[in-house]
Amino acid sequence: MKYYFTNLLCSPPQEDPIPSSRYSMAFDRKSTQQDAEGQDAEDPLRHLRDEFRIPTRADLKKKKISGSDSSEQAGEPAEPCTYLCGNSLGLQPKRASQYVSRYLETWATQGVFGHFKRMEDALTPPWLDLVNDEATKKQMGDIVGALPEEVAIMQTLTANIHLLMASFYRPTTDKYKIIIEGKALLSGHYAILSHHNIAPENTITITPPSGAHTLSTSHILSTIDEHASSTALILLPGIQFYTGQFFDIQKITAHAHSHGITCGWDLAHAVGNVPLQLHAWDVDFAAWCSYKYLNSGPGAIAGLFVHEKHGKVTSADAGGYLPRLSGWWGSDVGSRFKMENRFVPIPGAAGWQLSNPSAIDATTVLASLSVFGMTSMEELRRKSLKLTGYLEELLKQADGMGTLYDIITPRNSEERGAQLSVLLKPGLLETVMEILEEEGVVLDERKPDVIRVAPAPLYNTFCDVWRFNEVFQKAARTANDKRNPQEGNSLMVQGGQEKPGWGQVM
Ligand SMILES: Cc1ncc(COP(=O)(O)O)c(C=O)c1O
Repeated sequence: MKYYFTNLLCSPPQEDPIPSSRYSMAFDRKSTQQDAEGQDAEDPLRHLRDEFRIPTRADLKKKKISGSDSSEQAGEPAEPCTYLCGNSLGLQPKRASQYVSRYLETWATQGVFGHFKRMEDALTPPWLDLVNDEATKKQMGDIVGALPEEVAIMQTLTANIHLLMASFYRPTTDKYKIIIEGKALLSGHYAILSHHNIAPENTITITPPSGAHTLSTSHILSTIDEHASSTALILLPGIQFYTGQFFDIQKITAHAHSHGITCGWDLAHAVGNVPLQLHAWDVDFAAWCSYKYLNSGPGAIAGLFVHEKHGKVTSADAGGYLPRLSGWWGSDVGSRFKMENRFVPIPGAAGWQLSNPSAIDATTVLASLSVFGMTSMEELRRKSLKLTGYLEELLKQADGMGTLYDIITPRNSEERGAQLSVLLKPGLLETVMEILEEEGVVLDERKPDVIRVAPAPLYNTFCDVWRFNEVFQKAARTANDKRNPQEGNSLMVQGGQEKPGWGQVM
């Protein structure tokens, strides 16, 4: 018999949608560590973990960057930590230090010639071509499903949203509203609100219906319908940072276009996480950062996408291309040094570049792209569906599901990436996080009650997921005992009556 633990006392009947169970591991019994080890042994991408520096549990306790210190003497475990935080900051590819040290050596020994001179043992193109090299743009394009000329590696995510808004938000007297997602990360909101000093009432926010955490596609489409005649632009996250919900980018974009509305996407949590087809889906523009699933280091140089149809330069005169906030790095390479004071953009996304990019920064992006070059988004997705499905299954099998926590990420695996967001019963978060940290399990919290657990298929294992669950279940029980010593596990039942699951009403 299939073993599916669901606490029927507290969760309102939740459908287990077919696509989820298609990928999740359904065990006939409670899963064991041996199951996880077996899955790891069969994982065709397991060699990729060796490409990364996984901090050890002793590393995480260190107070000094280099050398040994008291934490090692105190016998902290030398085993790798359980890192499930790639949705916040991806781990360092081993290649990054190799790439950066070649860069530093080139700078030290070549000075300005490093801009042009192709060193025989270089790992990257000369700095002038660092991000505009065809092969680099193809690698980034493959990750987001774009033509090489549709992507630019530049600036930061928020800066790129500003630059894209300057080009794509073109309000008229009739069409001037912007539709955004109500719980999007604040940086996106700040960027939008600052454009043309748009009045708050002209910013339409889509929020989940009361009691729900996620947005249905039909809800998004009907909001678009409602405001279609007055809306100029829609900017949504590809994956919602809090719930991990993956939106139907193709359908929503097509619907926006059917109303003559431009549609752009913040792909911070989607890039390198789920397969994207920005060109084929006819997305107008998109922007992303490269420090989450792209593993390029905190604040590393980011990326943007401009659909081929918008990047055209049809004449050298103003009006032959989309207006933009321009800089010399986006101007036609032939005229860049001519001092003619006439901006003619490079065709495609490269024409949105502003500045000479930071070479050290771009170097870590290139190091990371070379690791992505060892696989494909399709292979990564295949593993990711299994890994996150396994996480879901372990969470569902345990007694704490529905009593101590609930999963707020869609159960349909097509509607999520690597991340599962787990909503804890109120008051447990602090203790749970303390225990996880003490046990070397790294993930992030969203106060007041959510932890986000993100097994990244490039470097996480089924054993990581299994260990997380072991530590987490104990942590949740300990936190609950500490807070409500009398309650035990019957907290959802009052006087024989079922209470609605708290996870559903918050
Ligand atoms: C969805 C989303 N948008 C925007 C940002 C801001 O990114 P940046 O600080 O790189 O501009 C983040 C950062 O994590 C994010 O998650």
